[in-house]
Amino acid sequence: MCGIVGYVGNRDVVEVLLKGLTNLEYRGYDSAGMALQDCGEVKIYKTLGKLINLKNELEAKKSELNHPTSGIGHIRWATHGSPSLINAHPHTCSCGRLVVVHNGIIENYKELREELIKKGCTFRSQTDTETIAHLVADEYAKAKDLEIAVRNSVKKLQGAYAICVMHKDVPDVIVGARKHAPMLVGIGENENFIASDTPAIIEYTKKTIYLDDNETAVVTKNSVKVTDKDGNIVEKKIEILPWEPMALSKLGYKHFMLKEIHEQPDVIRNVLNGKLYDIDSPINLSEVKLDKEILKKLNKIQIIACGTSLHAALAGKYIIEDFAGISVEVEASSEYIYRKTTTDASTLVIGVSQSGETADTITAIKQAKEKNAHVLIITNRPDSNMARLADSLIPVNAGIEVSVAATKSYTAQLISFYLLAINLAEIKGTLDKNYLKDIKHELIQLPTKIEEVLSNTSAIQECARKFSSYKNFIYIARGINLATALEGALKLKEISYINATGYAAGELKHGPIAMLDETMPVLSILVPGGITYEKVLSNSEEAKARNAKLIALTSSKDTNIDNLFDVVLRIPQVMEILSPAVTCVPLQLLAYYIAEFLGKDVDQPRNLAKSVTVE
Ligand code: F6R
Repeated sequence: MCGIVGYVGNRDVVEVLLKGLTNLEYRGYDSAGMALQDCGEVKIYKTLGKLINLKNELEAKKSELNHPTSGIGHIRWATHGSPSLINAHPHTCSCGRLVVVHNGIIENYKELREELIKKGCTFRSQTDTETIAHLVADEYAKAKDLEIAVRNSVKKLQGAYAICVMHKDVPDVIVGARKHAPMLVGIGENENFIASDTPAIIEYTKKTIYLDDNETAVVTKNSVKVTDKDGNIVEKKIEILPWEPMALSKLGYKHFMLKEIHEQPDVIRNVLNGKLYDIDSPINLSEVKLDKEILKKLNKIQIIACGTSLHAALAGKYIIEDFAGISVEVEASSEYIYRKTTTDASTLVIGVSQSGETADTITAIKQAKEKNAHVLIITNRPDSNMARLADSLIPVNAGIEVSVAATKSYTAQLISFYLLAINLAEIKGTLDKNYLKDIKHELIQLPTKIEEVLSNTSAIQECARKFSSYKNFIYIARGINLATALEGALKLKEISYINATGYAAGELKHGPIAMLDETMPVLSILVPGGITYEKVLSNSEEAKARNAKLIALTSSKDTNIDNLFDVVLRIPQVMEILSPAVTCVPLQLLAYYIAEFLGKDVDQPRNLAKSVTVE
């Protein structure tokens, strides 16, 4: 979604802003722009499409610029108004002296717009953001102070915003403010930064101040002042960012997605590190801040999440119910927030989110907190808004994920669920000691098994080539790999735009089977060792009888299945309950290679955003 970066200092401002925006572009966007303070003037540049267009525009107009000393940049993901040059940020007030960039949605923008038009303001775009520019300009005319003008203006805004404002008459000052949208200040030596997310500044500084809701920051080259909604100074803690700039490099891989898929063995080792030492020691999960006696009696868990994280949550349900015997409900955050739920003080509510900024999940978590539930957050961003709301926080330590399609953050979430479920099982004494040891042993082995999958991807590439021209796919599985079927299908949809749907294999005959013919390949996930294998095999036979082309993803060594399936993708043997951490990998790769064959923009699929900060 949208991204903001601002800079005041001695470096090449254009370069800093372009670099910052480039590091945010994985979030998804459709236009870009920047405003530069240059020798007493504010100059604005905007382009549609990718950042390279903005870069080329700035290069072409280089001679217009003397020596910019500060600026604000933005990438826009259209919400109000189509992706067009006029709707791209920055937006200005009627006279063009004041500029603003904005992330979020202003819900009362229509009312404000009408009032401002009556006052004589001339609107040019269809955006909600332009309202902010006129509003702050109106307040500035009264207060003659940009900080006060911003503070007074945001009091009138309803909705979510992270904004940066500059004014021609107030050189080299950026005023930022936020509510329900992230914003941080980067502290440098004789230079300062402001941004909507850490990757925008990581190449220049690791020292950061996170703004809280209703705070305003005034950023100059040598100072940062943060105030609350009443203008009182707030002493903010400087935090050191946990990321390395290296994380934003492809390290020789063609795409971030491929790099991130290959990082999964190490990601799992990272998640297990310090928590699972050996098969004889209990799991160390001090992150769960609930008293052991409460956990012993815990009998209701609700997990809320969206998209890929929702699939990890579904796997989490199977794992927790299997290991700890606690009843688990799983729900999409966007559904949870608009109904009467049974959440109460005795419920453990788990929020799962790669970004920690997903608006639906944040709202759901806030509702759960209002009902006095203990909220545990599983996220890859311990510096996120969601993490700040947590009563207990399990940071999944997958490292920054740049590709919009989630891969390594998904496996890290899965592993966090295994650790949590084992921890609960150990407290409740629900698992047989030998079974527990087997599970721990297998968990420790998972990275090696995934490495085996990653070391030879030729069969997956060949399968991708063979099937890349099909327009529809069905993925089927039973038991815990239903989550894998849903996630595998989602990955294919997201990056190749091919229609793929995951089903519980037993559901096939209750409707979807009507769609089957030679144009609809069926991918079956078959993991022997439990009760699902034979059943999925017979469901695959049913599909074969309707002329569907069949792909098997299996750890079975049985060569007879090679006669039933058109393609068999083999993975190492793995316990069924732990298998989603392995089965998801070939499906990520299959989606990746199909999208690659089709020449799609793998890392930044159309219409998608890395962190979805609107409901
Ligand atoms: C898919 C994907 C999305 C996200 C969803 C929730 O690859 O990344 O489906 O999983 O938007 O985002 P988070 O996990 O950040 O809450």
